[in-house]
Parts: sequence; C-alpha cells; structure tokens
Amino acid sequence: MFYLPLFHRLAGSSCLVVGGGQTALRKLRWLVRAEAKIKVIAPEVDPEIQKLRDAGKLTIEKCLFYPQAVSANLVLVISATDAPNVSEEVFVAAMEQGVLVNCVDRTELCTVIFPAIIDRFPILVAVSSMGRSPTLSRSVRGWIELRLPNALGQLAELAGRLRSEVKSSLPSVDARKAFWEEVFSSKAADEAMYGSMDAAVAEAEKMMASASSDGSIVLVGAGPGDPELITLKGLRAIQSADVLMYDKLANPALLEYARRDVELIDVGKKGPREAVKEGSSDAARPSGTTMQQEINQTLIEQALKGKKVVRLKGGDPFIFGRGGEELLAAAEQGIAVEIVPGITAAMGGASYAGIPLTHRHMSQSVRFVTGHSVEHGVNIDWPELAKPEQTLVIYMGLVGIEKILQRLVDAGRGSETPAVLLENATLPSHREVFGRLDNLASKVREAEIEGPSIIIVGEVAGIPEQVQNLYTAAQSTTDNL
Ligand SMILES: C[S@@+](CC[C@H](N)C(=O)[O-])C[C@H]1O[C@@H](n2cnc3c(N)ncnc32)[C@H](O)[C@@H]1O
Repeated sequence: MFYLPLFHRLAGSSCLVVGGGQTALRKLRWLVRAEAKIKVIAPEVDPEIQKLRDAGKLTIEKCLFYPQAVSANLVLVISATDAPNVSEEVFVAAMEQGVLVNCVDRTELCTVIFPAIIDRFPILVAVSSMGRSPTLSRSVRGWIELRLPNALGQLAELAGRLRSEVKSSLPSVDARKAFWEEVFSSKAADEAMYGSMDAAVAEAEKMMASASSDGSIVLVGAGPGDPELITLKGLRAIQSADVLMYDKLANPALLEYARRDVELIDVGKKGPREAVKEGSSDAARPSGTTMQQEINQTLIEQALKGKKVVRLKGGDPFIFGRGGEELLAAAEQGIAVEIVPGITAAMGGASYAGIPLTHRHMSQSVRFVTGHSVEHGVNIDWPELAKPEQTLVIYMGLVGIEKILQRLVDAGRGSETPAVLLENATLPSHREVFGRLDNLASKVREAEIEGPSIIIVGEVAGIPEQVQNLYTAAQSTTDNL
C-alpha cells in the first residue's frame, strides 16, 4: 500500500479519539498542537488527558464506543484502544460516514497513518514505512534527529521574516537561491539558531545588500520542432528562467516546463510565409527599428532589471538564428550571455528523414546555406556550391526554389542529382517531397508547401529510396522462404 504524505490543516476541525490511555494521549498531543476540535470517548481516561480537558483543549464522553459517535462532520477518527473489536467497529462506522480513520497498530484498518515526526517547527520531517515497520520508521527518525540542529526552526523563522524583502530586492530566482544558500551557512544562521533573531536579520540584510542582482541572458536552442530534441541543459535553463522569450519556431510545448511565475514574452517573429508576405524581420517598423532590434532591446532591458532571461530559439541559436546579433548587443551592455546549443533543422530533419548528411562514398562535406543569400546575393560562388560529392542544405529556400535549383544546374551540378524538401521536419505535420534538381521545384509547388522547410541537395538525398528498396527486397526474400 502506498500512502501519500500530506500535511493536514486541522485547526477548528472536529476529530474523535476513541480510547483514554497513553497511546491515545500521544495522538491527542498532536491533535492539540494542530488546534483540532477534539472529543475523546472512553470509559476511563489518563490523568494527563483529564488535564487537557481541564485546560479546555478537548471534551470527554465517558462511555464505551458507540457507532453513532462517528458522524459525517468529523474529519478524522482515531482508535487508540486495545479493547476487543472496537477498532473494527470504529473503522466500519468511519467508512460508512466517509471520515478519515486511523486505528493504532492496525494498518489494515487505516485510511491514514501517522508518520514518525521530527519536529523542528516550522520544519517538520515525516518518516513512514507505509505501515510496514513503525519501529524502523522510529529508528530512521532517530538518525535524522541527530543530524538536524535543534534550533532549525529559528532558521525557518529568519527566512520567513525576510522572504518578501528578498523577493523584491533579488528578482532573479537563481540569485535568490544563491543568497539563501549563503545565508544558511553564514553568521546570520548561527545568530538565528542562538536565538538572536534581530542580529540574524541585520546580518542577512547586510548580505542581501551586497548580493549580486546582475541579470543574465541564455540563448537556448530549442531544436527544429519535436520538443524532445531539446538538450537537458536547455530544459534546465527554461525551468530556471525569470523571463522566457520565444518565437514561432520554438515548440510551444516547451513553455510548459517554465516556472508558474515566469514572465512569457512572445517576440512573434514570423514563419517563412508571413515573413515573405509582410517583409522580413529586417524591415523597419513604424517605430523606425527592426523587429530584431526590438528583440535585442527587450532582452537587454529585462536582463538589466536583474532577471535571468532565456531566449528560446528554433534549432540552434548560432545557425541562421541571429544568436550572434543578440550576443553582440548584450555584450555591448556588459551583460553575461550563455549559449546552449540546439539541434539545427538540417541535422534534425535529415535524421528523421533517414538521410545521412555525409556518406563515405557519396558526400565528403556538407554546407548549410540560406535561400535568401543564395537567391538574392551577389558574390555567390555557384560553381563552388555546385561541386559534386558534397551535400547542400538550403534554409529558407522555399520562396526562391526554382531559381536556386536552376542556378546549381547551370553551375554544373547534374540535373539528376537527388534533392528533397523537408517541411515541418521532426514534427507530426512533417512532409517530404523527394525529387531531382530538375523536377523538385515543380513537385514542391504541386504539394503546396507552406511551412518552414529546408532543401537537401546531393546523392545522400537518394538514400531513403535505396533503404526502402532494400527492405522490400529483404521482405520478399523472407516471404519466399
Ligand atoms: C531563421 S531560420 C532558423 C534556423 C534555426 N536556427 C536552426 O538552427 O534550425 C528559419 C529556417 O530554418 C528552417 N527550419 C526551421 N525549423 C524547421 C523545420 N522544423 N523543418 C524544416 N525547416 C526548418 C527553415 O528553412 C526556416 O525558414
């Protein structure tokens, strides 16, 4: 049986304890501590229980247990008696009324069990063996007791006093974590545990004033689409972000990993279609700045507020991702930037499509180029790009696909060279259009491709078909056996 540890607020809630001996007394002390409204039923009670009654902490009904004593307005019933069959009766009555029940030393008659408790209020440690060995739980409690300073509660008191002050002067979660770790092993902690709370607060405030409130920026590669392709380091950065800036190429599922109080900023860069229709992120906006300049500005403003800003970028931040521009803009302001690499669209897309970007007998190198520069650029060395035995991956090449593929042929790459367009690579909505340099463009137009796409040119783009043929041949050989 697995019991979920929960801490229960019982203040003012009605609880019934059946039994009046030492076992009942031990449970009663906890219920009194929790400020429950307690009634005890027992023919005789321990003098200590009587004292609790006299102090107004509980009421006593001196009689044998009767099932009607368990009513639905109770939140908890405890049976702490060894009188024969009473615990069974208590359990049945509690179940009928839907009330939580604990019968001491009768795990099979418990819907809740008491842990062994290490009490350093407000720090409480609860140990349980799920009812299998209360003795072992108590031994474990003893081991933990030895390691926890008696005055640990004072530390919690110190943290409680300074909590909101720390939150407002150190906006970054990382800075707060670092601050508290430092405080808990500092003179302030010693002062608190010696009971000099004012001195402890003064010491901690001094540390707070000198604590670093510098912000930072992390450029995180989110991978090409499939959220599982992010790195562990990238995921951890998302989890610790105070501010998370994202755009359309990063999978929104990744935002779910952020803290609940993270500030999400959609920097809304367009996908390829919209960017073409409305002009690229280089185009000046009414404000006179480009979208990229506005993103840089927001990154810097947030970091200067002392926050940890995570900029989530599709693929890898440094592959056609303008990560370099963001890095330089932040460096100009003296802001620390960390780069977490991601899987770029070429690598993720090729792997998911079963295309090795290099292959010993077909392609000795791979080049990543942008369709923008290839389509519009002057000084493009077309003969170089058209050389055989290399793989070309063209990002953002959808709009100019006809021109790009034609120029490669004109520059000498064979018109029958295999080529493929991968749309929405690594996502469930992915599509692949396979062809050759002389027919891929028309196939792509026919397929009405619109999503983010890369084009892979080279003999390696023919490998998925070869693989398929080999599987089919192997299958027919097996079928013929
Ligand atoms: C601004 S670039 C960003 C590239 C990104 N930094 C990377 O490393 O993959 C955007 C282009 O990357 C390509 N791209 C990004 N994600 C893709 C995907 N899931 N499938 C195909 N192409 C993708 C497309 O060519 C798209 O137009």
